[in-house]
Amino acid sequence: MPLFFSLRFLLFSAIVALLASIVLYRFDTFDPAPLPSDALVYSTDSIPPLINNQFLTGAEFIGAGLLNSPEDIAYDRDSGLIYTGCVDGWVKRVKAFESANDSVVEDWVNTGGRPLGLAFGLHGEVIVADAYKGLLNISDDGKKTELLTDEAEGVKFKLTDAVAVRDNGVLYFTDASYKYNLHHFAFDIWEGKPHGRLMSFDPITRTTRVLLRDRYFSNGVSMSPDQTHLVFCETPLRRCSKYYINEERVEVFIQSLPGYPDNIRYDGDGHYWIAMPSGVTTLWKLSFRYPFIRKLQALAAKYGFNTMIMENAGVLQVDLDGKPIAFCSPSSTNPFSMPLLFFSRRFLIFSTIIPFIASITLYRLDTFDPSHLPADALVYSTTSIPPLVNDQLLTGAEFIGVGLLNKPEDIAYDRDSGLIYTGCLDGWVKRVKALESCNDSVVEDWVNTGGRPLGLAFGLHGEVIVADAYKGLLNISDDGRKTELLTDEAEGVRFKLTDAVAVGDNGVLYFTDASYKYDYSQASFDFLEGKPHGRLMSFNPTTRTTRVLLKDLYFANGISMSPDQTHLVFCETPVRRCSKYYINEERVEGVTTLWKLSMRYPLLRKVTAMVAKWGFNLMFAEDAGVLQVDLDGNPIAFYHDHKISHLTTGVKIGKYLYCGSLLHSRILRLDLLKYPAQKSL
Ligand SMILES: *[C@@H]1O[C@H](CO)[C@@H](O)[C@H](O)[C@H]1NC(C)=O
Ligand SMILES: *[C@@H]1O[C@H](CO)[C@@H](O)[C@H](O)[C@H]1NC(C)=O
Ligand SMILES: *[C@@H]1O[C@H](CO)[C@@H](O)[C@H](O)[C@H]1NC(C)=O
Ligand SMILES: *[C@@H]1O[C@H](CO)[C@@H](O)[C@H](O)[C@H]1NC(C)=O
Repeated sequence: MPLFFSLRFLLFSAIVALLASIVLYRFDTFDPAPLPSDALVYSTDSIPPLINNQFLTGAEFIGAGLLNSPEDIAYDRDSGLIYTGCVDGWVKRVKAFESANDSVVEDWVNTGGRPLGLAFGLHGEVIVADAYKGLLNISDDGKKTELLTDEAEGVKFKLTDAVAVRDNGVLYFTDASYKYNLHHFAFDIWEGKPHGRLMSFDPITRTTRVLLRDRYFSNGVSMSPDQTHLVFCETPLRRCSKYYINEERVEVFIQSLPGYPDNIRYDGDGHYWIAMPSGVTTLWKLSFRYPFIRKLQALAAKYGFNTMIMENAGVLQVDLDGKPIAFCSPSSTNPFSMPLLFFSRRFLIFSTIIPFIASITLYRLDTFDPSHLPADALVYSTTSIPPLVNDQLLTGAEFIGVGLLNKPEDIAYDRDSGLIYTGCLDGWVKRVKALESCNDSVVEDWVNTGGRPLGLAFGLHGEVIVADAYKGLLNISDDGRKTELLTDEAEGVRFKLTDAVAVGDNGVLYFTDASYKYDYSQASFDFLEGKPHGRLMSFNPTTRTTRVLLKDLYFANGISMSPDQTHLVFCETPVRRCSKYYINEERVEGVTTLWKLSMRYPLLRKVTAMVAKWGFNLMFAEDAGVLQVDLDGNPIAFYHDHKISHLTTGVKIGKYLYCGSLLHSRILRLDLLKYPAQKSL
């Protein structure tokens, strides 16, 4: 009954997040809101015809080490000086020369705050949108800094962000949030409520007017060349809008941007340039879609974990109508492809942080105590990579008994009758007559064990031996009339998860109990706890004795008798290992290590286990497959498919490979002659 962990396992972080939030909600009042639905649309409308996705190639660096996080840039054509605001409060002036290395950086004025937006006033003064101070006026000689405004309509600015100057001298500026300051700006984004305002300041009347309120993190602002409107950006909405000054009217300029817009600058040449500190990633998408993820991110931040991960930044060039012209990005990942399930490496980090935080809290509420797996279970070597691979198992596969077989697990084939026996979730052992066309196959209810038949094997007299997860080892007579319990305990310890069975030529039955601690419905806890509760046993029908051959196995799973009857091969799922057990010598030998499982961190497993207790299934499995190995355990061929999961059995009958499933209501059949494995690269 293999349950494979996989990359998709990471999705569980979202569920963990949900759960953790259930608990933590009581400790926290942070209350994120859903975003407007058009902020969740990811269209291709903003794809420009031109893309440069390698803009670090050939880029030069100015003022390296001298400029501390320069945010906005203003260029004074007269002096040829570049002004920029740094995180240390300095507005610095840079003289850029032909060679970037020759550039000169000069400390100009320190605002004592955090200068973000910069623009030149009509008289050569520098207007600064200072995140902490408000709107400042620095005289052209740098000698005088004056506060122009830091509140409007009785509400103080908390995050003055950007400024633009109209030809008539009026200043237009944004306050991204009246609630959170720059240090806490991430909380504004996570809260997803509109705390931003677009405002104007008239230097003659010295009045501050609110032009627009309830904006989502109103960020960069730019004046149109014809002076009729402003273009301003709302970061979490991935949108920039026009504000017509005389008509006091708003209109979308560009939306569904490939990233989260920050500053927007007009270049004097018919184009705006929109900078995006982060492209759209799966984490951003998820968190904007689901407020509880943002709440978790906020909680994580309070615990000191930053999950606001910015990547795939870039600058979008658009024309005066908001039509995209070109995109420059230092990353070769195309931000415009934005596939929904394209998980970034950063997202993996996030997915470990959230469960970690959740566990800090939940640990105290839970006694589940996972342990470390043996070190070799964590080795992912290439020794089990077979020479032949068919990675399109679904291509050409046919399905048998669709809808009639409820999660058929093991498959046993009776050569005499040509019948396939399989155990289903509903307790039925069903019989299938597979015909040339799968659609013609006939499925028959045979015997219901009242438990969960997992392993199946034929006894010497045509009887069917069943490893029933809940019942133990059963003997069903060949006519299906009699079901007998052979054994359900050994050495005083009852089986909890009888899993698989094989029959020796001498009639002795060999079988596994995957766990004496957790039953079938709790199997995932056994994985997550990472302790060996499994046993390999034998049952002798003559003496009716049950013997424990091996104990302390990790989820002892499938078992098979070697053709020469000297040994068994059995698998331990979480350690991805199948071993030989030599029957006479009572000796074990490792054979092969199989799949990658995300089982490295006990902490993660504990959190997952707790969540599972709450009723979520976190045992995501994907990229299932069947590995063909020779009698020495050398891999021969691997049949798998990214799109398939929860394969439980691969049985080769004639030219066909038959596969059972933990998930689907059918048996999969693949014609191995038509769809062979190919040489792997
Ligand atoms: C500028 O300086 C960097 C680092 O010191 C160096 O690698 C680069 O070659 C220099 N460029 C020029 C044009 O001198
Ligand atoms: C900024 O201050 C200077 C004097 O230092 C003044 O001439 C100028 O008009 C002021 N600008 C604004 C927009 O208030
Ligand atoms: C079997 O049935 C499926 C679904 O009804 C159909 O798509 C497929 O073509 C059928 N195959 C054959 C060989 O008749
Ligand atoms: C199973 O039961 C049948 C009678 O129903 C009996 O003949 C057979 O020997 C039994 N097999 C085992 C392995 O106990």
